[in-house]
Amino acid sequence: MVDAGIRPRFGLLTSGGDSSGMNAAIEALVRGSANTQWEPWGIREGFEGLLAGKVDRLAVSAVSGISGQAGTMLGSSRPKGLDRPERLNAIVDASKAAGLNSLVILGGDGSIGYVGARLQALGLPCVGIPCTIDNDVPLTEYTLGFESACQFALGSIDAMRLTGRAVRGRLFLVETLGGRTGHLALAVAEAAQADGVAIPEVQNDWAAIGRRLSEAVEQNGHALLVVSEGVTWAEDVEAALASHLPHRIRRTALGHAQRAGAPSHGDRLMGLRFAQAALALLVGGRTGHIVAWDGSAIVEVPLSRLTGAKRPVDLARYAWINGLNARQGKVE
Ligand code: F6P
Repeated sequence: MVDAGIRPRFGLLTSGGDSSGMNAAIEALVRGSANTQWEPWGIREGFEGLLAGKVDRLAVSAVSGISGQAGTMLGSSRPKGLDRPERLNAIVDASKAAGLNSLVILGGDGSIGYVGARLQALGLPCVGIPCTIDNDVPLTEYTLGFESACQFALGSIDAMRLTGRAVRGRLFLVETLGGRTGHLALAVAEAAQADGVAIPEVQNDWAAIGRRLSEAVEQNGHALLVVSEGVTWAEDVEAALASHLPHRIRRTALGHAQRAGAPSHGDRLMGLRFAQAALALLVGGRTGHIVAWDGSAIVEVPLSRLTGAKRPVDLARYAWINGLNARQGKVE
């Protein structure tokens, strides 16, 4: 129990890859907590920072207006060894030492589903807010940063399309981030109305993709293939396609700039809504959950249900973009 008159503190941290919308959630958590008994404390540089005692009270004046900025004002980290019990115990001890009663963790499934669930089991109450441009956190249809990253990619692709129409004969091969999943590449390819998409969850048929791209270059002057970085880690896409295509291949890796696309209206709003739901869990004593988007509403999902779960890609969408019969997209 907390002493009467002293507000219980929650620590707020961002972990793993930063994503646009994290700052909107941070701003809303700090602003919203002013109407609760909870006091927000910012942890700099994620779990590494917590272990190093980098914890300070967060005032509204420190966060006012940050929603419009990509990245995370708190800084983040990808600490190693968080699967070791002694490291997790050290985080619980560091939280106690800083006077934190609970943690709100903003991050991907490793940070919230794995670390968050274990900390909760060790007696440190946690609430997770799903954040990653990869949109691969299980049991939520949305993670903060996804739309902004898509928007960034579309800006580059739209520009490529213009030069593609001006000078005929090129295939644009655009590599997105996305880790080992294809959600980001798929969403970008759909919105760009690409001629093809390649993702790591599927055995991509390079001969069929090559034929389709070749036809697109002949008919439209240029073609666009969106490739998830997870595919190029595994195979050389350019080489795989070159034997099926006579056209000039121009490869662009969007790289980490994609992670810092300007926060979209959707990410800012969703950051606010997720923060409101996370605060409600904290205030209601219902920690041990993430806030999640089920496609039409924000719901709470127990942290423990994330362990071992995966978010599958929609193969019908993959097939449609590649002009395949839905059954032709084979999952590995
Ligand atoms: O946070 C997710 C992500 O941006 C992935 O899309 C990408 O593969 C990875 O992080 C890059 O990680 P790092 O920041 O360690 O280079």
